[in-house]
Amino acid sequence: MRKYLVIGNPIDHSLSPRLHNYWFKENNINAVYEKKQIKENDIEGIISEMRDGKIDGINVTVPFKKSVIPFLDRLDGVAQNTQSVNTLCKVKEEVWGYNTDVGGFNSSLTSIDIDYMNKNIFILGSGGVTSSIIHNFSFSANKIYITNRTKEKAQQLKERDLTGKVEVIDWGQKPKLCNFVINTTSVGLSKDEKLDLDFKDYENNKDVLFYDIIYNPEETNFLKEAKLRGNKTMNGKMMFLHQAQIAFQIWTGVAVKIDDEVIKLLD
Ligand code: ATR
Repeated sequence: MRKYLVIGNPIDHSLSPRLHNYWFKENNINAVYEKKQIKENDIEGIISEMRDGKIDGINVTVPFKKSVIPFLDRLDGVAQNTQSVNTLCKVKEEVWGYNTDVGGFNSSLTSIDIDYMNKNIFILGSGGVTSSIIHNFSFSANKIYITNRTKEKAQQLKERDLTGKVEVIDWGQKPKLCNFVINTTSVGLSKDEKLDLDFKDYENNKDVLFYDIIYNPEETNFLKEAKLRGNKTMNGKMMFLHQAQIAFQIWTGVAVKIDDEVIKLLD
């Protein structure tokens, strides 16, 4: 039986096992997918287990998407560019790192048929997934504003940007009206948490999309307020499903569908 894992800390909330085990069963693949909470110094050992053939594939989540990189033999182009890896696959004797978050995010936008050419993007946060969101918009966007409580982390992301489109904004400040406002902070994971930013100037603006990477809870305060203001909203559910779909295809070669049944699995 093939063995797959998602590693992170915390990991309890992860719905990846539910999803991948469903797809394994649907496709008659003899495999099991489990979750494992690890510490930073467990990474090397787990990747050695993979090299030795004891584990066939791994998803990496917060906060290890960057810290796995030194232990890998090769990175795909997107992982290299974002310095963020969420999928490990064994290729011959090597362990390769892939980034499926960028593709997942992009497909989530495609799934709601939204035009994202030449838009101004405002990204809140500079954590593990933020470089993937920046990468996704780096060619299509007009301008990408990022802000983070710890400004240096936003600055580091700007330094890696080759397009010249990224601008850092002080935490608590906002750029002029943007087309997309994306929360990549962890604020909202607990139901009563709330970002202290005033978006009154977006009142009744139906063209602006407020997007929260968080999918559990389904509607964070960030999205609740946007909805009340009359803005478009989207949570991280479709991104999560699509990044998993790409990972599954890397591991098995099988292109699975994201249908209503699969979407319901996350409820
Ligand atoms: P990591 O920073 O280890 O990559 P993450 O969960 O991927 O972890 O990212 C957490 C993000 O949420 C960061 O942008 C973090 O801001 P800091 O870099 O200043 O820590 C942001 N964040 C977490 N709690 C926050 C809070 N109470 N207010 C504002 N931003 C917060």
